[in-house]
Amino acid sequence: MRTVVQQLDRKNLKEEDFFVAGELIRKGKLVAFPTETVYGLGADACNPQASKQIYLAKGRPCDNPLIVHIADIFSLEKLTKEIPEVAYRLAEHFWPGPLTMILKKSDIVPYEITGGLETVGIRMPSDPIASMFIKASKRYIAAPSANSSGRPSTTRAEHVIEDLDGKIDMILDGGASTIGLESTILDLTGEIPTILRPGFITAKQLKQVTKIIQYDKAVLNRNKKLTVVAKAPGMKYKHYAPKADLTIYEGSSKAVIDAINREAKQQELQKRKVGILATDETISEYLYGIVKSVGTRENEITITSSLFERLREFDTIGVEVIYAESFDGMKHGQAVMNRLLKAAGYQIIKV
Ligand code: TXA
Ligand code: MG
Repeated sequence: MRTVVQQLDRKNLKEEDFFVAGELIRKGKLVAFPTETVYGLGADACNPQASKQIYLAKGRPCDNPLIVHIADIFSLEKLTKEIPEVAYRLAEHFWPGPLTMILKKSDIVPYEITGGLETVGIRMPSDPIASMFIKASKRYIAAPSANSSGRPSTTRAEHVIEDLDGKIDMILDGGASTIGLESTILDLTGEIPTILRPGFITAKQLKQVTKIIQYDKAVLNRNKKLTVVAKAPGMKYKHYAPKADLTIYEGSSKAVIDAINREAKQQELQKRKVGILATDETISEYLYGIVKSVGTRENEITITSSLFERLREFDTIGVEVIYAESFDGMKHGQAVMNRLLKAAGYQIIKV
């Protein structure tokens, strides 16, 4: 199959830009599109045959449910039932935006996209391209992140081409995603709102609306030998993994730099290609390997938006080992570390 890439001009978006993409969705085809978090791989959520193609293209296990993307609040009422009052308050505060709410599904949501669950994840993205695309399709759009299963999520059309060229019908190219990490997932089907996946919207922000909040045990897990079962089925799979062996170093900035320099030197002596994931603040302190800054700690969105891209760049260069600084303690530390720990297979060294 030929994958058509359609360039979009964010300063001048027109309804007709989305005619072809909308028509493809109605025909049961796959269209990748930008959102403010990451690129999504979209299909008609109520067409089980179309969603099957998503699993095939990504190589995704079929028990891993898809998030349904909507462009207006009425769609929430069509897709779910027994909506608690708190869901409306959350929608008012955080939609459109990077929050996915898990609610009881209505009968129109096929089990093929929920991995057989009675619940469904709903998100209203804020990216105008995503919104215009959903409206043009006249459907609800089921979309996982538009990467091959297991690889870092895609934050540019080029990344989608890398993973899915020839496997999907179209890519809407809207440039780089602004946030760069997937949405916060909040389960509202239990007594206490529960964060299943940390994201750009923090627990503290959510708690201001929900009053009470908890993390799913699997989110806080930092141990490779995962003994707790994740409530978001996708969280149990190998994820975000670059091809190289990644280790995170945690400690004072000086101790981390010294330890990474020592390790990187050893690796280079053994003729291994080393990558170092640094920050603007520390990049000049590293003496060995290919050093890349993920952004500045002074402005965290520079870090969230580049994390996956840097991991992909290391893959392209073909480094064999990566050493990364820790991002604990930042406002968005939960979200960043959740991805980085998975990418590292939970290898973290305290110095
Ligand atoms: O920002 C995002 O959320 C992006 C963009 C494209 O919207 N999408 C995304 O989708 O990250 P995906 O499929 O890569 O991750 C969705 C996660 C998976 O871990 C899945 O298991 C979980 O959400 N999930 C989906 N529906 C669920 C449900 N009903 N109950 C529990 N977890 C669910
Ligand atoms: Mg994903």
